[in-house]
Amino acid sequence: MSLFALGDLHLHFQAELKNRAQLTDRAWKDRERIFRENCLRLIHDDDTLVLVGDHSWGRNLEECRQDLAYIAALPGRKILIRGNHDMFWDAKKTAALNQRFAGQLAFLQGNFYAYQDYALVGTKGYTFEGPFYVDSRRRIVDWDREAEAHAEKIVARELNRLQASFQAARAAGYQKYILFLHYPPTNILQTDSCFTALAEEYGAEQVIYAHCHGESRFHDSILGEKNGVKYSLVSGDYRHWLPMKVL
Ligand SMILES: [Fe+2]
Ligand SMILES: [Fe+2]
Repeated sequence: MSLFALGDLHLHFQAELKNRAQLTDRAWKDRERIFRENCLRLIHDDDTLVLVGDHSWGRNLEECRQDLAYIAALPGRKILIRGNHDMFWDAKKTAALNQRFAGQLAFLQGNFYAYQDYALVGTKGYTFEGPFYVDSRRRIVDWDREAEAHAEKIVARELNRLQASFQAARAAGYQKYILFLHYPPTNILQTDSCFTALAEEYGAEQVIYAHCHGESRFHDSILGEKNGVKYSLVSGDYRHWLPMKVL
């Protein structure tokens, strides 16, 4: 029995792609086939695959139908985290999604799922991503304070969801945690955040995140061990569409 993770599939079997040049890079070409083949080779029926957000370009459930069917047909139990592009997923209707896709897909946001003696906890997360202002040597000298204030409100909301997730898991008797976020736990200005603090407070063993794709973004946040927590980026192009073995 194993636990795997990957993020940012950005599927669009139905939805039309407009002005998304980045996803036509070589690293993204044929990802549906490559990822599926990697899953079929690595993942067995008793394994769990956590997909860490940005599943589909579809703007609603109907436009995501084929994308979600593709995910449902992958081997193992599939758990999904909400990404910033997942418009089909109304943040307030996670329970309804879980009901609708019962037995096929599980949606993780503010709730938790058991994996052996671990609780898999998570939410979308959030972090201020600019705009940043740089000098002629590309050093950040300032940033948009209004955008930062707006981001702080979203961070607070996401932190609440993550606290609910941890609390539910602890109330059910779990003492070991793996934390999944779509957004990186810190931005390029930070060395820690409310999310890293919560991971440390609960003694989460690992924090797995995605969202940072395109080579220039791979080092935006924490990679490797920090204060006893292991941080991993699992965006699809960073992983070359090979699911990461978490446990
Ligand atoms: Fe993405
Ligand atoms: Fe994203």
